[in-house]
Amino acid sequence: MEKLIIQGRNPLKGEIAVSGSKNAALKIFPVALLIQEPIRVFNVPEIEDIFRAQEMLIALGGEVKKVKDGVFDIKFSLPVRQAGASGGKNQKGIILPTGLVNKFRASIMFVGPMLAKFGEVSFPHPGGCVIGAGVRPIDLFLDSFEKMGAKLKISDGYYRLTANKLKGADIFFSKVSVTATESLMMTACFASGETTLKNCAMEPEIVSLAQYLNSCGAKISGAGTPIIKIKGIKKLAGGIYKIIPDRIEAGTFAMMAAASNSGKIFIKNCEPNHLEALWILFDKIGVNYKLSKNSIEVSPSKKILACDVITHEYPGFATDLQSLYTVLMTQAHGSSLIHETIYDRRLLFTDTLVQMGANITMCDPHRVVVSGQNKLYGRKLVSPDLRAGVALVVAALIAHGKTEIDNIYQIDRGYEKLDERLRALGADIKRIK
Ligand code: UD1
Repeated sequence: MEKLIIQGRNPLKGEIAVSGSKNAALKIFPVALLIQEPIRVFNVPEIEDIFRAQEMLIALGGEVKKVKDGVFDIKFSLPVRQAGASGGKNQKGIILPTGLVNKFRASIMFVGPMLAKFGEVSFPHPGGCVIGAGVRPIDLFLDSFEKMGAKLKISDGYYRLTANKLKGADIFFSKVSVTATESLMMTACFASGETTLKNCAMEPEIVSLAQYLNSCGAKISGAGTPIIKIKGIKKLAGGIYKIIPDRIEAGTFAMMAAASNSGKIFIKNCEPNHLEALWILFDKIGVNYKLSKNSIEVSPSKKILACDVITHEYPGFATDLQSLYTVLMTQAHGSSLIHETIYDRRLLFTDTLVQMGANITMCDPHRVVVSGQNKLYGRKLVSPDLRAGVALVVAALIAHGKTEIDNIYQIDRGYEKLDERLRALGADIKRIK
């Protein structure tokens, strides 16, 4: 197991480039199941979750070839409805490998395409970011596949879905979910007739996926709005998919720059217009920043003020940036209420910030009050999940003394070579076995 050792309070300055979006890149691997032709994917972040998605595609009979850094050719050429993803005609069902399903939640994205392509799929409950300790539900997926005509059986810890033919349906999501929206959007391409999805998530990654699928021959309209319509088609062509910049990574670096407040940081290769909710907050709390079309510049600010935040589905303030904002608020003057509305228990990591010297009071599992400004001190910590983990890295960068962060697989799931890139900004950060 690797650890990060961070000696805090080195001034940070310079230039940092944003990688391709994890949450966009993850979805192209299941899409490959629906497309018989090769796909060349650009700007792929080389992170653990993406390696798991590649392993899943390969385990199901697909091919993944690295062309050069960030560029991959992927292909899944088993014909539609050939029995057995691994090719065996006697295989009883199409089973997603438990070892991989346990490792990343986005494995759920392979279920719809498997069902559409082979008429059946079996899988255990998906793992991934534990986010506190709650098990993340998949009812929206299961209910929607059933609406499209699939039959569900649950036995021996496995879900088994079967469908001779998926049919278009009118689906209302009782909760706004990114992956459920994307999963049904891609699966419905191969259902007969028209599917209408209502109360959809509106994230830029969904818009990007719909644009790509349409460029391959899909008939999807409304992506980026709460209602998406999909007309069934017979075939999708391959092509080229350029992954959009990771807005969560851009927001991470912007808040890191604001919290460390020690030098000018230029964040390039990003799309600032995907982070409007953050800029409104930056205006209110007094961060000195400048935006251009594809970059963000954060310079030292006179004084950071406290301001409340409520996480919300896109275009609201992203839950994935909540942990970073909480760390930033420890450096602000005054009290701020952080209200996490999407996930239960995602604020539990604030206990760790308290151990570092933060003045944070938990009101209930969804709300904490941060009373700044706090001096943070280095400690021995364990990264609980991806976004809390990266927030601890930022806390360690601004803390007095040395911090050791264990379980950094969680951070490597979503941030490519984070230690190397932060060192280039002047951080004293080492990765050790
Ligand atoms: C996606 C992102 C993740 C982000 C999240 C919210 C990917 C790979 N991940 O996750 O980084 O934190 O959106 O912006 O794109 N829910 C149900 N039933 C379901 C599915 C979800 O109740 O079947 C609930 C969840 O408990 C949660 C909310 O819906 O309260 C959103 O979760 P969900 O949309 O599933 O998150 P992901 O799409 O997995």
